[in-house]
Amino acid sequence: MIESLNIPKPDDFHVHLRQGSLLKLVTPFTAAHFSRALVMPNTEPPILTARDAVNYAAELRSASPQGMNFQPLTTIKLTKLTTNVSVENAAAVGVLAAKFYPQGMTTNASDGPVNLHDLQPGVLDAMQESDLVLCVHAEAVGVFCLDREIAFLPELDEYVRVFPRLRIVLEHLSTRGAVEAVEGWPANVAATVTPHHLVLTLDDLIGSELHPHSFCKPVPKTLDDQRALIRAVTSGKPKFFLGTDSAPHWRTAKEESGAAGIFNAPVALQVLAQVFEDAGALGRLGDFVAAFGADFYRLPRNRDRIELVRRSVRIPNDYEGIVPLWAGREARWSLTGQTPLQ
Ligand code: DOR
Ligand code: ZN
Repeated sequence: MIESLNIPKPDDFHVHLRQGSLLKLVTPFTAAHFSRALVMPNTEPPILTARDAVNYAAELRSASPQGMNFQPLTTIKLTKLTTNVSVENAAAVGVLAAKFYPQGMTTNASDGPVNLHDLQPGVLDAMQESDLVLCVHAEAVGVFCLDREIAFLPELDEYVRVFPRLRIVLEHLSTRGAVEAVEGWPANVAATVTPHHLVLTLDDLIGSELHPHSFCKPVPKTLDDQRALIRAVTSGKPKFFLGTDSAPHWRTAKEESGAAGIFNAPVALQVLAQVFEDAGALGRLGDFVAAFGADFYRLPRNRDRIELVRRSVRIPNDYEGIVPLWAGREARWSLTGQTPLQ
């Protein structure tokens, strides 16, 4: 039995680090376990321009503990007002991606375009030309909640054909249908998968009592969908890489207002080690968390390394008012070294 696993320090290609006091609280968790993180722009106010992104990156860096060698990577949020010039300016200051949130589909998305047709003409052309990645929250507006991801795929298919050089990431896959669509599209289309969609189904959310801490968008779905996601990430196919979608909300917002989002930054790697081991694919964890995403985003692979060891730890119930994934449960793997988290 493998007792320890030494892998390159991972990257998280989809995380919410928020702003203000919440940012200060959660950023060190991501900085401790990840070399780089692509930070989502659905803050309040949102990150819309090159200037917003530069300021946000500075705020994130100042919240990262000294000596952790953590690099936040920025995104802008696409709205109906985004122009080709805002895209070009963002690319010029090093923004890596622009995020498409369909209207009302998740936290702070009420101002979103309804679909990709709603974007200004020229925006996607400018993204393709300036090599900005299109990150998509792939859920169709106005559709029954469990069918939204599947319903979005035909629209995306059209764009994949029209923009053959645009790099597209379907974020937080939650269905077998989306896995198969991504597998069928060319290499410029990839996907992130979260730890929580690998370990939760709809049963965890509403199968017995309502459990708001398992609530996220897209909603975790069936056992068959979960199996397809596990197969995708453990297959060694470079199209699937880690985006944790760690999305902290205060306990009160989750329990009283039903906010969507799961905080998994402190436990993501431990949970993933367990999923990969159970699938007999522990040897493929390193590529999923530290190689395929970097390659897709055309970033150098990381040189720092981390070590996971087989040592059971109980995940805390709460981190100063934020409930993590697997709160109160035993995880079979833990991290050695610089991890002041448990
Ligand atoms: O559950 C989610 N929470 N899904 C998202 O897409 C956004 C996120 C958030 O920002 O809270
Ligand atoms: Zn997200």
